[in-house]
Order: sequence, then structure tokens, then C-alpha cells
Amino acid sequence: MQATARAQPNIALIKYWGKRDTERNLPAVGSISITLDELYTEITVAFEASLGADVLTLNGAPAPDMLPRMSRCIDRVAGADRPAGRIDSVCNFPVAAGLASSASSFAAAAVAAAAAAGRDYSTAELASLAGQASGSAARSLYGGFVELANVNDDIALDVLIDEAAWPLRVVVAITDAAAKKTGSTEAMEISRRTSPFYGRWLDEQPRDLDAARDAILARDFDRLADVAEHSCLKMHSLTWTSRPPVVYWNATTLECLQAVRELRAAGVGVFFTADAGPQVKAVCLPDAAGRVADTLSAVAGVSHIIESGIGAGARRVDAR
Ligand code: PMV
Repeated sequence: MQATARAQPNIALIKYWGKRDTERNLPAVGSISITLDELYTEITVAFEASLGADVLTLNGAPAPDMLPRMSRCIDRVAGADRPAGRIDSVCNFPVAAGLASSASSFAAAAVAAAAAAGRDYSTAELASLAGQASGSAARSLYGGFVELANVNDDIALDVLIDEAAWPLRVVVAITDAAAKKTGSTEAMEISRRTSPFYGRWLDEQPRDLDAARDAILARDFDRLADVAEHSCLKMHSLTWTSRPPVVYWNATTLECLQAVRELRAAGVGVFFTADAGPQVKAVCLPDAAGRVADTLSAVAGVSHIIESGIGAGARRVDAR
């Protein structure tokens, strides 16, 4: 049996950083994200016992480095006693560079593997399974503005508003498309163990989540901008103050942050965020997107710009 699914990456406006359970990959804090629409990963899973072992390709080339994590994700969805699978992944943006390719990949893999195995999971169950591979992947099962909460011994996801309810734009400035040196799982553990600010980070997260949720429900761009930039800088402060420190940014990242701050000070509806990589994501009101894209593409060191709206959750895309 074979199935294909598509998922889009999501960008956290209120970040998660740190795990409360490394075995089950449960996040230490809740988070709020937006799912993008222009960027995507499409994964086909075909179970073929004759293969003997899983085979993974990324954009047509063998991808052995990513295979173990992908195989474990598919085991969780289809059972460890499943036949071997041919897994073909197509991604239209740089992989492992802080653009949330793991979120779209594992969300798409969970949906495709479930369908290929004939398993009938709810979206919440698929989110929980994808989240065990990559914490942020759980959010890509849903579209729009998504909140991930920690409840009891698991996660629970909620769509605060859908993608049509507030059509913000996201301008991504690519400052370095190479794969990052320290993955987020490793960096989170270093921060949890060594950053002097980690305890305070945990304590303050509920307040940031409340502020962002209220701002989103009220479509209050300025309030969302304030708390989202604060959450981003706080998360990166954890990595900077870890031992050894993990610095995901380069000089161009800082130039872009400054350019966004200047636009905002001039009254343009835009704010920045950045994840475990050097790319800058400028979230903006629809009428500001052109100006933001022009400004960021003129920053020395920005190799290219990707523009996106807010999109839908992971879904099967082949005929049933
Ligand atoms: O999905 P993970 O476990 O690789 O972690 C992603 C962490 C950030 O992107 C930096 C923040 C977030 O909430 O997405």
C-alpha cells in the first residue's frame, strides 16, 4: 500500500525550547505557531516487504543521514512489525537550516504512513505521533494559528483561528542555507542543563502564551508583535547563555532584525522571529509585505527571500 501526504512548515510565534520528557519528546512548555502555505514537504510512503530495509530519498537523492529518525517515526505510526518502506520526500525549501523542515517532514510522514498502513488515526493522534519525532511537527497537522498545550501526560492542539481569519504574510530572509551544526534537540538539552535563565523561561511562558492568544483572537497586530519578538529573543538568550553556547545567528541575521525594527518604528506592520537557524522570518500585515520584502532583500548577505501566506494542515494528496 502506498500513500502521499503534504505538510507545510510552521513558525512559532511563542517558542518552545526544552523538553519535559526526552523519551517521549514532550515539550517543556506550550507554544503558538502559524502554519505557512508556500513552503511544503510532500512524502510518499510505499510499504514493500521485498525491500528488506527502509530506503529514503530527498528530492530524488538518497538521504541516509535522515533515515533512522524517519524510520522510527514510521514505526510509531505503522507499528515496528510493518514491512520495509520506500520513502520519497520532496521539499521545496532548504532542509535543516532553521526553516522547520523537520516539522513539515514528520507531519507529512505521519499522515502518509498511516494511510499506507491503513490505520485510521484522528488528527490529534497523528499530531501526537509526529510530535514524538519533532516537537514542532505536531503543530503542522493543523492550519492557521495553532496552540500546542501540555495537558496531563501528553500534548493537546487547538486551532485558535484558521488561515482565512487573519491573512498575515511571512517574508523569510535566507542568510545562510547550509544545514545547522547543532540540532535543536541537542541544543535544548544543553540549555535545560546549563542556562541560568532556564527556570525563569519555564515560569514566564504561560504569561506569554496568554498575551499572544489574546492578541490573535483580537487580531491585535501590535500586541502580538511585542510578545512574539520577546519570546524569540528570550529563546535565543537561552542558547547564548548555555554552556557551551549555541549561537544560531550570523551578522546578516542581526542586520535583518535591525531592518525590521526600523520598519516597525516607522509604522510598518511587521515583526521578526527566528528559530534554530540564521534565517529571519518577518511576519507582516498584508499591505506591508512588499515593502518588507524589498527592505530585507536589500540587506547585504541575504541570498534570497521567500514569501508566504498562512496555510492549511497536513493532508493526504493522492487519490484514496
Ligand atoms: O521541533 P523541534 O523539536 O526541532 O524544535 C523546534 C524549536 C523551535 O523551532 C526553535 C521553536 C518552536 O517552537 O518551533
